[in-house]
Amino acid sequence: MTMFPNAPGPIGIFDSGYGGLTILHEIRQQLPQYDYLYLGDNARAPYGPRSFEVVYQFTRQAVLKLFEQGCHLVILGCNTASAKALRTIQQRDLPHLDPNRRVLGIIRPTAESIDTVTHSRHIGILATEGTIKSHSYKLEVQKLFPDIHVSGMACPLWAAIVEANEAESEGADYFVAKRIDALMQLDPQIDAIILGCTHYPLLMKSILRHVPKGVRVVPQGRYVAASLQHYLARHPEINSQCTQNGTCHYLTTESKEKFQDNATIFLHEQVEVEHVELESIR
Ligand code: DGL
Repeated sequence: MTMFPNAPGPIGIFDSGYGGLTILHEIRQQLPQYDYLYLGDNARAPYGPRSFEVVYQFTRQAVLKLFEQGCHLVILGCNTASAKALRTIQQRDLPHLDPNRRVLGIIRPTAESIDTVTHSRHIGILATEGTIKSHSYKLEVQKLFPDIHVSGMACPLWAAIVEANEAESEGADYFVAKRIDALMQLDPQIDAIILGCTHYPLLMKSILRHVPKGVRVVPQGRYVAASLQHYLARHPEINSQCTQNGTCHYLTTESKEKFQDNATIFLHEQVEVEHVELESIR
């Protein structure tokens, strides 16, 4: 078994890049008292077009890094990682890495809340190619609400546009319109579109310009935050391992300066960030 620091530590939040900041933001709104450590694998983002094996390996490396930094609980603030790596990490890796640490995803908590957002019982999911191809949303939603009709649309380039800080450009608008139109053509009865990629709320202005009237756009952050709150209340043994001083620190595999500049745009606050290398250490 691997030895990680025993003392209680921050809650780890991982994403391929900047997208998880939208999840972190909502979590900090609902649970400001905890300490957080955010890790963005910006140097290797986007994960969306990558194979199952590569997303799994990258995500595993990130989880190990966050455990090494003292986290006992890690949230994969990334749908692609949740779809492609979560189950293997939970079932195959955790039992021998450290059975007392936990890794949670964000697809299940989003699926659990979907019932409340649709009247027509027809929803659309916009997500990365990896998430859509995994059918994770369809499977989770239909397990919980078999009467809800789910249509998914992959949005290649959207996460890359956000990572390149082009979210407000005309080019972004073109690609956003194209995928929303394609989704609505798949099923015109859709009355709620779930943003199933944590990067997409950063394209919200453009998304709202192109969504037909009467169709609701649903970012997942607040559902994930509410679910984390319930989880911590139900698991005092994990809660007691999460320190509560209200701090937030950031790690990136890109350069500090680049992350700092972009994170300031997304978070509207100055952040302290450190560069880290991720590698296959075990
Ligand atoms: N933000 C991620 C997600 O929620 C991944 C985007 C990407 O790296 O392609 O799926």
